[in-house]
Amino acid sequence: MLERIEGTRYVTPLREGGSLPGIVEGSDLGTYVVKFRGAGQGLKVLVAEVVVGGLAGRLGIRVPAMVAVDLSRDIARYEADEEVQDLLTASVGLNLGVDFLPGSFGYDGSWPPSPAEAAQIVWLDAFTANVDRTWANPNLLVWHRTVWAIDHGAALYFHHGWPSRSPDPARFAAQPFDASKHVLLDVADDVRSVHDRLAPLVTADLVDSVLGDVPEEWLETGVGLADPAAVRSAYAEHLLVRLASPAAWLPGGAR
Ligand SMILES: Nc1ncnc2c1ncn2[C@@H]1O[C@H](COP(=O)(O)OP(=O)(O)O)[C@@H](O)[C@H]1O
Ligand SMILES: [Mg+2]
Repeated sequence: MLERIEGTRYVTPLREGGSLPGIVEGSDLGTYVVKFRGAGQGLKVLVAEVVVGGLAGRLGIRVPAMVAVDLSRDIARYEADEEVQDLLTASVGLNLGVDFLPGSFGYDGSWPPSPAEAAQIVWLDAFTANVDRTWANPNLLVWHRTVWAIDHGAALYFHHGWPSRSPDPARFAAQPFDASKHVLLDVADDVRSVHDRLAPLVTADLVDSVLGDVPEEWLETGVGLADPAAVRSAYAEHLLVRLASPAAWLPGGAR
């Protein structure tokens, strides 16, 4: 599982984010952008963050480190803002902490990644069906003159159907990806070569290790998903079946 720390102080909200993320100090003296379990989008967006961010990191794409942040009732006690207090009270338990990159700024094209790095990010987004990386919402930060990928909560959208529909990996595998609005499309070189290089690295063991990072209490059961282990296997199967069907989703088409 992700390293687990205690949240010791809520510092300030990050007003830019749609999900009301906030900055929290941790028991390890770190500073984290926390994505709260009690925010409107629910636990599945936290799972998508850990799975897609975890895949990215293991494949050499720069992503901030992630931890599980345990929040106790006490953290809400000194919070004056009522909206934040409600959010903190609804978020007692494990939340996602993303290492805060101090001084970073939102991607504006002034420090583009190399064409190879850009192509890796486009490939990751196509593979995981992440539509949330456009000029309107780049979800890329520039830190120390390099580009870091953040916010993978919109990926793996298929899981939002799970409470009522059984998992359907073949359907996800066949889902096309529209890269035409991707913020890095103009910078990226050949995404098909990236697939040839990265796909063999995404083994069943690597996928299991990524899913092993997800805290068990975030894995919601549903139709055909009796327990957290079944949920983990369903994610693994969706990823591996889609990986083997690049013709459906790879920008530029499969070779
Ligand atoms: N690790 C980080 N370091 C510094 N700033 C961050 C970090 N993560 C997010 N932010 C800032 O917070 C904003 C919202 O974060 P994001 O993960 O995109 O959340 P949301 O799901 O609400 O869109 C980002 O646009 C960025 O400005
Ligand atoms: Mg965002």
